[in-house]
Amino acid sequence: MLERAKVAVLISGRGSNMAALLYAAKADNCPYEIVLVASNDPQAPGLTLAEAEGIATFAHSHIGLNREAHDQIMHEAVVEAGADYIALAGYMRILSDDFVRKWNDRMLNIHPSLLPRYKGLNTYQRALDAGDSHGGCSVHLVTPELDDGPVLAQTEVAILPSDTADTLADRVLIAEHQIYSATLAQYVTRENDPDWILEQVRTRALRLEETHERPSFGTPGWRVGSEKTGKYFAYFSRRHFGETGISIFVKTSGLDEQSALLDADPELYFAPKFYGKSGWIAIRLDTGQTDWDHIDSWLKKSWTMVAPKRLTKLMSIAEEF
Ligand code: GAR
Repeated sequence: MLERAKVAVLISGRGSNMAALLYAAKADNCPYEIVLVASNDPQAPGLTLAEAEGIATFAHSHIGLNREAHDQIMHEAVVEAGADYIALAGYMRILSDDFVRKWNDRMLNIHPSLLPRYKGLNTYQRALDAGDSHGGCSVHLVTPELDDGPVLAQTEVAILPSDTADTLADRVLIAEHQIYSATLAQYVTRENDPDWILEQVRTRALRLEETHERPSFGTPGWRVGSEKTGKYFAYFSRRHFGETGISIFVKTSGLDEQSALLDADPELYFAPKFYGKSGWIAIRLDTGQTDWDHIDSWLKKSWTMVAPKRLTKLMSIAEEF
C-alpha cells in the first residue's frame, strides 16, 4: 500500500485549487492525501466543499490577532492534523518569517503569473497592460519574501487579443488546476527521483574544500585535490556495476569498519562489488528516509581520508576553534 504524504491546504476563499488538489487525490495512485483544509475566513466557500467531501476543516479568523499569533494557531491546527506539507491555495495572508521557517521546503504556493513577473495582486491586468504574449501560473516553494522562492513548475497561457483580466483569469485558473496537483505529486515523491538524489549528493560533495566532479566508469564521482592529481572520495551509483538501487560509495577506514557497518545496518549499507575488498562502503539513498546530515558527515569523513595533508591540517586547526 502506497504511503501517502499528508497535506494541509490553506485557503481564504473559493477554494477551486483546493478542490483540484482534492479530486486529484482521489486517484488510487496519487502520492498525497489531503488531511486538512484550513482557512483564515470561517465563511470561505471552500470549507463547505471540503466538509462535504469528508475532509477535516479548521477555521480561525485573523481579525483582532497579530500576524504571529494567528500563524501560530494555523500552525498548531496543521500539526495536529498530522500534515507533512502545506499547500497554499489562494491563502491571502502574508506569512510571518517564523511560520515560513517552520515549513521550510515543505510549503508550496500557486500564483497566477509567470514568476518572477507580477508578484502580488492584479497579475492579469498587469500582464495585459504590459502587452505580454502570455500570462500563466507558477507553483513555487514558499520563502519569507512574498511570491518568491524557487519555482517548481510553470504553465504559460496565451493571451488573446480579446482578453480582459477576467477572461484571462478564467483560463489561467484551468492551467492552475492542472499544474498544482501534478507538481505537488512530483514534489512529495522527489526523494525517489534519481536526478533529485544525485543533485543532493552533488551539492554536498562540491561544498567540501577543493573538490570537483569527474565521471568514473560512466558514473558521477567526486574528487578532492587538483584536477590532475585529485583523489576520489565518493561515487554515485544508479544501479551501476550491477548494484541494486541508488547509492553512494564512500571510503571507510578499512575492512573492519566496513564489516561492522554491514552487520549494524544491512538495510542501509552494502559492500560495493566493483571495489572488492577495499574498505569502500555503499550507502543506499533510495529508502525514502535518507538522513542527509548523515550523508553529509560520511562525505566529509571520506573526504578527510583522501584529502591532501595541507587541507586536512587546515580543517583540524579550524575545528580547534
Ligand atoms: C488563484 O488564482 C490563485 O492562484 C490566487 O488566488 C486564486 C485563488 O483561487 N493566488 C494568489 O494570488 C496568491 N498570491 P481559488 O480559491 O479558487 O483556488
